[in-house]
Amino acid sequence: TGYFTFDPGFVSTASCRSAITYIDGDAGVLLYRGYPIEQLAAKSSFLEVAYLLINGELPTAKEFESFTDEVTHHTMMHEALKSFLNGFRHDAHPMAMLCGSVASLSAFYHDSLDMADPAQRRLAAIRLIAKVPTLASAAYRYSIGWPIRYPRNNLEYVTRFLHMMFEVPSEPLELNPVVAKALDLLFILHADHEQNASTSTVRLVGSTGANPYACVAAGIAALWGPAHGGANEAVLEMLQEIGTANNVESAVARAKDKNSGFRLMGFGHRVYKNFDPRAKIIREMTHKVLGELGVDDPLLEVALKLEEAALKDDYFVQRKLYPNVDFYSGIIYKALKIPTEMFTVMFALARTAGWVAHWLEQQVDPDQKIGRPRQVYTGATERDYVAMDKR
Ligand code: CMC
Repeated sequence: TGYFTFDPGFVSTASCRSAITYIDGDAGVLLYRGYPIEQLAAKSSFLEVAYLLINGELPTAKEFESFTDEVTHHTMMHEALKSFLNGFRHDAHPMAMLCGSVASLSAFYHDSLDMADPAQRRLAAIRLIAKVPTLASAAYRYSIGWPIRYPRNNLEYVTRFLHMMFEVPSEPLELNPVVAKALDLLFILHADHEQNASTSTVRLVGSTGANPYACVAAGIAALWGPAHGGANEAVLEMLQEIGTANNVESAVARAKDKNSGFRLMGFGHRVYKNFDPRAKIIREMTHKVLGELGVDDPLLEVALKLEEAALKDDYFVQRKLYPNVDFYSGIIYKALKIPTEMFTVMFALARTAGWVAHWLEQQVDPDQKIGRPRQVYTGATERDYVAMDKR
């Protein structure tokens, strides 16, 4: 491989130093700023976790209040963004709309594009955390032909988002607190995951000096793929296709057949080779949330049977393939009445906290350089141009 290390997929390359998230894939450990994901899931809130990821420490009550105020202050989107969203086809995927509209923020908020200014960097980070839920719900409502709702700033972050999603004029939204709590927890679990494909994308784009809105839009694009965040949508589609527990064995057989082009979605992880601690939390949560909401979803039985069948199958055991964060999240989103095409948008909303934390960290990193990998060239050796009539 000449002078370079050949490492497709960067399986053994550390691209940066980071103090944000720690993963031990063999032990199934995930820490945000040193705090175990299990503790944060049980005791914290998404907005507090966002503060922690960005600032490195848990906030005091006063710090949290002022952070919440700042985020709340920036929830509105520029009114002209509506015309931008209105230009999409009626059946546009909400991820396409989110990706485009987040990139477009750089055209609206010129006072937060100077990356040499720490105050402007922080403002951009706050704006992203504040506005992504507004844009996400706008994309959803547009896709179903409903008018966009403005953020209600007397509500807290997750409840406000649910109102923007589901509220209709003149009808108060009856929100079961279980729904907001469950969504908040899912957001915590998805908030960061060190150098995954989308975060690495944010950093790669960030390394060129591009503005943070463009960087996060690139992260959203990377997240969309079914091997990454798009897996949660793909899992639900897969479970629906399998349909009943009777079809589980044949699905497992198909996933083992390399020629089928089919993988068990929501299974396997580049880093976790024992179990995904987020999946463990979500699994328990699925039972609890479905129970509390009185939802009896036959897909849960299919998922449980599929997990059971895969976990005792040599193919999956030998390759250390376990359910990942996306395996059960879709069933919960479905129970919360979040439509399937919004699942990856939910992931993007939560991961925005991690993306901006990494982007901020990168901006002050003394090792920071433009990301510029090399390649192993496999093309033709030097040759002379041949005139078209001689080819
Ligand atoms: N079903 C069947 N076989 C699989 C699966 C699966 N879900 N995942 C991996 N394998 C096999 C793969 O074919 C390979 O077999 P062999 O060694 O015989 O060639 C082996 O397991 C190792 O897989 P890999 O593709 O080399 O592993 P990777 O680290 O490059 O990929 C992954 C990790 C998550 C992309 C992959 O496991 C996958 O495609 N899973 C399904 C999609 C999914 O659930 N993605 C969400 C990931 S977690 C949340 C997130 O990051 O967004």
